[in-house]
Amino acid sequence: MASKHFKYVIAGGGVSAGYAAREFVKLGLNAGELAIISKEAVAPYERPALSKAYLFPQGSARLPGFHVCVGSGGERQLPEWYTEKGIELILSTEIVKADLPSKTLTTAAGTTFTYDNLIIATGSTVIKLSDFGVQGADANNIFYLREIDDADKLVAAIKAKKNGTAVIVGGGYIGLELGAALKMNDLDVTMVYPEPWCMPRLFTSGIAAFYEGYYANKGIKIIKGTVAVGFDSDANGDVTSVKLKDGRVLDADIVVVGVGGRPLTTLFKGQVEEEKGGIKTDAFFKTSVPGVYAVGDVATFPLKLYNELRRVEHVDHARKSAEQAVKAIKANEEGKQIEEYDYLPYFYSRAFNLSWQFYGDNVGDTVLFGDNDPTSASPKFGSYWIKDGKVVGVFLEAGSPEENKAIAKVAKLQPSVSDLEQLKSEGLAFASKF
Ligand code: FDA
Ligand code: NAD
Repeated sequence: MASKHFKYVIAGGGVSAGYAAREFVKLGLNAGELAIISKEAVAPYERPALSKAYLFPQGSARLPGFHVCVGSGGERQLPEWYTEKGIELILSTEIVKADLPSKTLTTAAGTTFTYDNLIIATGSTVIKLSDFGVQGADANNIFYLREIDDADKLVAAIKAKKNGTAVIVGGGYIGLELGAALKMNDLDVTMVYPEPWCMPRLFTSGIAAFYEGYYANKGIKIIKGTVAVGFDSDANGDVTSVKLKDGRVLDADIVVVGVGGRPLTTLFKGQVEEEKGGIKTDAFFKTSVPGVYAVGDVATFPLKLYNELRRVEHVDHARKSAEQAVKAIKANEEGKQIEEYDYLPYFYSRAFNLSWQFYGDNVGDTVLFGDNDPTSASPKFGSYWIKDGKVVGVFLEAGSPEENKAIAKVAKLQPSVSDLEQLKSEGLAFASKF
């Protein structure tokens, strides 16, 4: 079988891979040195578009419009860009085996690739309801969303089931963004999730109350405190209804499931140190195996600001960790030192006309401020998280670019606060002082 050697190989062709390629080019790359191996059929793109503009009923985003690095205001890297830079983009190619001691990757077609340096950028996969044995979960028109192929299947179903009924299982990022997208497509939408409020891994009850109220006003039905335990389908195998644990049965032409992700580390199991479900790295994204780096969703890295190892499943970190790893590889070759990764967590989401940003850490006491009435003409509100007398995290809905910059600064500076009542009354003005 064919074998090919590259100085640098990136396993995976998503967000991190695209930003890593740009950094390699910036720092100096010779033609033929870098290969990106991706199971997807398209060049790296900004994955967040898939749950937002890709699903718009009008003016929807399509490739090549959102190839990296447009998401952060950079130049768009079309497939030709890789050719021009002498980067081998090996698409529709799944790596099925990784042997780190011999520095060899094997693809499904049996081709082998060897490397001097490997960047693991395989991202996450979806957790499926069939993984925990939910009855009937393999029926047609039950969708998950991770890659562009998934989005295309969903778009086709939205067209085929015009004015139909959709059930969203899960109240996290996918649930909230897809609930909005399907409603915008005029489907009758019901969301189901087990927790007392949506997005509990970030939202406080006060934050969630706004979004739940806003969604309800848009006509979305929300069922909390229960889960999907089974699905019925017709003679064609198409889903017809969702059975809930509390006994209710919901009609469904389309089901979208967003019950979490799982980092794709299986290929490397037992060959590299792991931590908190990801591949353990240092502040340069170097793993326990020399010459092997891990970035993006799969990396468990030292979050210097909180003196803790963390894994982050968001696009800003995917971009920045990729750039850091490439800088580290190049510095290593030149015998130079670079600064440690010093990351300020940044998450965001957009749905309907809403848009929020969060910076920092969501631990400690919380202070909700502003107008979080979902019926307001222009709601604008936020929350501070306060730990050990310091502001450590800030959330803001409907912030201007300057206001978002201000909350980021506060989360990084961690100013002391003694009077939470005063913080509440100052609201956003507190952040704008810094
Ligand atoms: P990413 O998933 O981007 O790429 C991994 C690549 O590796 C894929 O191309 C995959 O096919 C490939 N691969 C995996 N295994 C392979 C194998 N064995 N062989 C070959 N190729 C393989 N974040 C945020 O901050 N704001 C947002 O709005 C959103 N929105 C959003 C929407 C949707 C629908 C999803 C799924 C995710 C988001 N995210 C997000 C999260 C963000 O997109 C995510 O954190 C980054 O894409 C992670 O980048 P990576 O490069 O680590 O993985
Ligand atoms: P998530 O972790 O955000 O949310 C999963 C939700 O499903 C949670 O509310 C969870 O409690 C609920 N749940 C768990 N089991 C359930 C069950 N049996 N029935 C019903 N609900 C259940 O994960 P996600 O929304 O699936 O997102 C997947 C990945 O994509 C994550 O890595 C996420 O960060 C990423 N993503 C990010 C964004 C963004 O940052 N704006 C947008 C979309 C996706």
